[in-house]
This record gives sequence, C-alpha cells and structure tokens, in this order.
Amino acid sequence: MTEAAGSGAEQDLESQFEATIGRDQRIEPRDWMPEGYRRTLIRQVAQHAHSEIIGMQPEGEWITRAPSLRRKAILLAKVQDEAGHGLYLYSAAETLGADRADLTERLIEGRQKYSSIFNYPTLSFADVGVIGWFVDGAAICNQVPLCRSSYGPYARAMVRICKEESFHQRQGYELLMTMMRGTDEQREMVQDAVDRWWWPSLMMFGPPDGDSPNSAQSMAWKIKRHSNDELRQRFVDMTVPQAARLGVTLPDPELRWNEERGHHDFGTPDWSELKAVISGDGPCNTERVARRRAAHEEGAWVRAAASAHAAKQAARAREEAVA
Ligand SMILES: [Fe+2]
Ligand SMILES: [Fe+2]
Repeated sequence: MTEAAGSGAEQDLESQFEATIGRDQRIEPRDWMPEGYRRTLIRQVAQHAHSEIIGMQPEGEWITRAPSLRRKAILLAKVQDEAGHGLYLYSAAETLGADRADLTERLIEGRQKYSSIFNYPTLSFADVGVIGWFVDGAAICNQVPLCRSSYGPYARAMVRICKEESFHQRQGYELLMTMMRGTDEQREMVQDAVDRWWWPSLMMFGPPDGDSPNSAQSMAWKIKRHSNDELRQRFVDMTVPQAARLGVTLPDPELRWNEERGHHDFGTPDWSELKAVISGDGPCNTERVARRRAAHEEGAWVRAAASAHAAKQAARAREEAVA
C-alpha cells in the first residue's frame, strides 16, 4: 500500500468515526477511533473507576459503628454497590485496551487521580447521610448524561450504575430525615455534616468552565454532554428545595433564587482548596492511597490463587479436549 492510499484509508476511518458521533450512534470497542479519543476515555473511565473504589473508604469506616442492624445492612449494600461500579468501569477501560493491573498501579503510585471528594474525613454517622444526599446526588447529575456518552461500553455501564446511585441518594436522604425528626443533638450533627460537605460537593463537578482545558474536546466527541458549570447549577437547583424540606441551611450566604435566570445564584467555591486536594494535599489523600495500597498487597495471595486455579482449569479443559 502506498503512503497516499494509507492516509486516504485513515481519512475514511476518521470521517466514518465523525459521522457515527454526528448521528448520535455509539462507538464500540472494535470500531476504529482516534488515539486522542481512546486516551481521553481511558483516563476518564479509569479515574471514574478509581473514584468508586476509593469512595468505599470514607463510608466503609462506619459499617462497624452503624447505629442499628437496618442501617448497617443499608450501608453495607451501598458500599458493595460502589465496588461493583468500580468493577464495571475497569472492565469498560479494558475494552479500550487498558490493563487493569496497570491502572491499579497508577492509582497506588499516585499517577492517576480519583474524585477530590473522597479526600475528606467522615466525622459522624450523619456524614453517611450527607454523602448519600450530596455526593451520590452530584454523581447522578454527572452520570445521567453519561448514559448517552458516545462510547458504548461506558454508556451501558452508566445505565446500571445510575439506577444504584439513585438508591444511594435516597438512603442518605431518608437517614437525614430520620435524624432531623430525632433529638437536637442529632439535628446539629446533620447541620454540621451539611456545613462540611456542601462546598467540597460543588467542587466535585471540577473547575469552572473557563479553567477546564479538556472539556471542549470531550464535548465535541460526545464523551461529555454538559459543561462543569451547567452540571453544578443543575445540582444546586435540585438540592435547594430538598434542603428546605429537610430543614437544614446550606452554608452559602449568596444562595438565592434568580427569577430572571430561572436558576439559583450561589457563591464561588474556594478553587485553591480544590487545586490543593487534587494535587495531593487534601485532609485524607495519603491515608486513602495507603489504605488502597495495603489492600492491594494483602490481596496478592488471592490473585495468585485465582490465577493458579484458572491455569489448572485451562489445563484440564485441554486434557479433556485431547481425550
Ligand atoms: Fe458509585
Ligand atoms: Fe453511590
């Protein structure tokens, strides 16, 4: 094949890819895709998978201290769901040619990121409720549009994940409702948790649009469907009436309904805090990664045993095929 023919074929593939995206159809693992698209997706899906797995830690710490059997069962189910989300997403990353062991290495060596929100501590059981309400609520805002993401395996994983996230949000809100009907001390615990988690939750949507260099390309490729600021606004608009019904105050003096815009105005998050947390200086970064690394090392024998078992089964299947 001459070089001209080669680049012509490449151009055909590229325009086919663009046309598929233009028609709002899915790109599937065997389809040709530009290297940048593949790399962007691997980075996004891996970060998302890491967030699910690291996200098990802040709430997982409360499983042994849940106030009742019912709360323990709910929390256990929720934390296990997050593990499942991580597994679907690592599988989705593998369809792009990523290697799961390599992704785990990158996480525990600090070369790949996870959501900034999981670097904050959980100080009381009310945090479990507020994480469900805010963090899973923010995750829903982010992830519902990803169900229409242009990459098939990612979009399909999101459909199932979103169903589970909606249970997570409801269990959190229901826990807070129960606490708000309890004692003054319980109401104070809820308000304190709301005060601590509100701003970090707004930061979960990422930096402001003007400061988010990869966003435009991701939107053009329909990996992302809405900008960070649009999603943040959607979250604020969704959460304000829920806070009123619950009877808590969101810690932002600038928060008010703007009739003209048809949205709530709100204050500016402390972006220097987000930068610090993302670059490793949040309250719990070191602890989260150390715990993940320890779990990985302690699980080495399980991976070795599973590989030995798989090898034995494959050998047995070969013997049976010969016989
Ligand atoms: Fe999740
Ligand atoms: Fe969740």
